[in-house]
Amino acid sequence: MKNVLIKNGMVILEDTQQKKDIRIADSIIKTIDDEIMPEEGEEILDAGGCFIMPGGVDVHTHFDMPADVDLKTSDDFYTGTRAALAGGTTTIIDFAEPDPKGPLMEGLDIWHEKADGRSFCDYSFHMTVPRFDEEMPDQLTEMIKSGIPTFKAYTAYQDSLGVTDAELYRIMQSVKAADGVLCIHCENGDILKCRQADLRKEDAACIKNHALSRPNLVEKEAVSKVVDMAELTGACVYIVHISTKEAMEVVERAKKRGVKVKAETCPHYMYLDDSKYELPGFEGAKYVMSPPLRSKEDMKALVSKLKDGVVDTVATDHCSFNYRGQKERGRNDFTAIPNGIPAVEQRMELMLELAEREEIPLYKIAQLTALNPAKIFGMYPKKGVLRAGSDADIIVVQPDRTHVISKETQYQDVDYTPFEGIVIHSRIQHVFLRGEQAVREGKLIKETPSGEFLYREYLTNR
Ligand code: URP
Ligand code: ZN
Ligand code: ZN
Repeated sequence: MKNVLIKNGMVILEDTQQKKDIRIADSIIKTIDDEIMPEEGEEILDAGGCFIMPGGVDVHTHFDMPADVDLKTSDDFYTGTRAALAGGTTTIIDFAEPDPKGPLMEGLDIWHEKADGRSFCDYSFHMTVPRFDEEMPDQLTEMIKSGIPTFKAYTAYQDSLGVTDAELYRIMQSVKAADGVLCIHCENGDILKCRQADLRKEDAACIKNHALSRPNLVEKEAVSKVVDMAELTGACVYIVHISTKEAMEVVERAKKRGVKVKAETCPHYMYLDDSKYELPGFEGAKYVMSPPLRSKEDMKALVSKLKDGVVDTVATDHCSFNYRGQKERGRNDFTAIPNGIPAVEQRMELMLELAEREEIPLYKIAQLTALNPAKIFGMYPKKGVLRAGSDADIIVVQPDRTHVISKETQYQDVDYTPFEGIVIHSRIQHVFLRGEQAVREGKLIKETPSGEFLYREYLTNR
């Protein structure tokens, strides 16, 4: 691999930006300095007028995920990580899902089979903990020995992977003892099931009923319970895909009183509102995910919590189902619409656009999309930051390169994008993964997968 010298760019550092040159050699960032003289044989990339940022770290994806006996996500690791890389994300963490009654190790083996040798960007897994029994603490220890120190529990989906309050409490105790992090999907599963049953009787084909069955308080109730349990157990919890003002306020208060809680939101909760469920025909199904889209007021509140530091990360919850043939399963029953949307390819550009619209400094965007997730999940400083010694995972962003998001130009293997038509004013021109150029002049040039599994050892920086 050739050494590369990126010159004259505005480099986004941990909490500032400065005009610097960057030398890449042997897969890592060798030097960052005011002016670096070229060496013989070195490739020079003039990044004058561009921003240089750390490659994105998306810690919430679902690739190759079974959703029913004859249904799985349209993107697998090959297409999903290729799309991630094309969009400037160089590391993902996917949720591995074991059989609800089976050993976690079996689930991990299955996820390695899906991902190893088929991933274009670097990757790791969080392990879903679908129950608690006496063997679970040992199984968590086994996971940690296998490089997986982060876990996931669901307070909904009780028919499959969800857990009871008692199980959640025990899981938190075990995760605390193992010094891991527990990611949690927060919705009150019992209440939303009651509401689904009632609304189904009223009008099963009405897509808006998806949102009405899971209103803001269904999320807030679960988040409140989870942060209180975290306070009781001392566990570090990471609340995935927070969608409401109310839930974010619960997190803010918990943080103030010292609870170890981290907050994630997703681009769709800041770009799209619940009027999408009133689109004509079956169009609204394209926006069915859980939690659902919310009001414009919620969207605004989430953006303001990004700015004031309550939100720690922005991840995608990429979980793609085709509109034709997959989402369509729910034409006559809103509860049968597969939940989830594609976003892994557009996350970075959507966040760059938000920075421009909302006057958020780019170092803040880099913190939310790369630095903080890398720190929380034990990958920093190898990932998530531009500094000497870190992996040369780098993106070069060119301002004033207006383009429009369209399903026609995406790499994601799915027949729509929920962000269709959104205008983006900058473009991710170049992407480097461990020093190798994967995107040149906005085009993916990487043809074969060479993503590496990230064995995560200690969670020292959270
Ligand atoms: O609707 C969603 N979010 N699907 C993916 C699974 C999950 O709950 O994160
Ligand atoms: Zn979830
Ligand atoms: Zn998810």
